[in-house]
Amino acid sequence: MKKRINLKGRSLLRLSDLADDELLYLLDLAERLKRKKRRGARGNLLARKNIALIFEKASTRTRSAFTVAAVDEGASVEFLGQHDIHLGKKESIKDSARVLGRMFDAIEFRGFQQETAETLARYAGVPVWNGLTDDEHPTQTLADLMTMRECFHRLKGLRVVYLGDGRNNVCLSLMMGCAKVGAHFVDCAPPELSPPSARLAAARAVAERNGSQVTVEPQPARAVPGAHVIYTDVWVSMGEETKLDERLRLLRPYQVNMELIRQTGNLKKGGVIFLHCLPALHDQGTELTRARGALEVTDEVFEAPFSKVFDQAENRLHTIKALMVATLAGGNSTR
Ligand code: CP
Ligand code: NVA
Repeated sequence: MKKRINLKGRSLLRLSDLADDELLYLLDLAERLKRKKRRGARGNLLARKNIALIFEKASTRTRSAFTVAAVDEGASVEFLGQHDIHLGKKESIKDSARVLGRMFDAIEFRGFQQETAETLARYAGVPVWNGLTDDEHPTQTLADLMTMRECFHRLKGLRVVYLGDGRNNVCLSLMMGCAKVGAHFVDCAPPELSPPSARLAAARAVAERNGSQVTVEPQPARAVPGAHVIYTDVWVSMGEETKLDERLRLLRPYQVNMELIRQTGNLKKGGVIFLHCLPALHDQGTELTRARGALEVTDEVFEAPFSKVFDQAENRLHTIKALMVATLAGGNSTR
């Protein structure tokens, strides 16, 4: 008999908080909610819910996705920016958590320390969703997997190659996400930026259970053959701005360009896609790239038909909505 999934009341602090079947359940729910939105239907699955959005770091997609998803299903949000609240400055995180938990039905937190998200969840008494910390970006992984499944109609057995900063939040959550759905994951980064051994071991244990492999391969030419998904992220994450020169030196050979895409051997067959969590530093368009040229990805790849980055960005909305509905409303309904 199929196990009934119930995520009501749960937080999402790390991707590994989700059981494998719970992760797939959220992807299914996101697909249903996407179809519902395409039909023009608005709902009330989150009616009368009040949601706090705490942002210590900047955001375009995550903030917008949480806001629009909430409003689509009848909830209200309050944006609490870094300079708006006392969190961790004039008030302990534990005290703020207890106050916010008395007023809000759930809290989204984007910030630096994973520990802050954990403390909020421990003391607020309402679901807390990690909208990115230095360690994790679990809601990003939900959208990444949804996009892969839309493109390939499966996840099991896909070969996902991540190039660049192989120990950042996006990479580590994705590594665990791929392991959970039985996709092969290759972390292609210089040894200085390879994943912490504990995170690697945890992902490998999950992958083994699901018949896939998690590997580390520092050489792009050896990592990409056979790839279905080429994924990259910025070379310098928020909070690491002083490391720019060092990262440029280490990561130039990991730039995603057409030569690298061709090396997958899947381009002609239409069997490879490019993904990026965004924002991306490609050729022109930002101060940094005007001065330095393309960083992690060239325009040619970013703008190519096999680049699915804007589908992926849109899927942030549907997957975040699924998470909110599942953890606040529960059940299987998409009325
Ligand atoms: N991918 C992502 O989290 O984007 P934002 O920083 O714009 O939220
Ligand atoms: N690794 C990036 C992701 C941004 C969405 C960062 O943390 O800045």
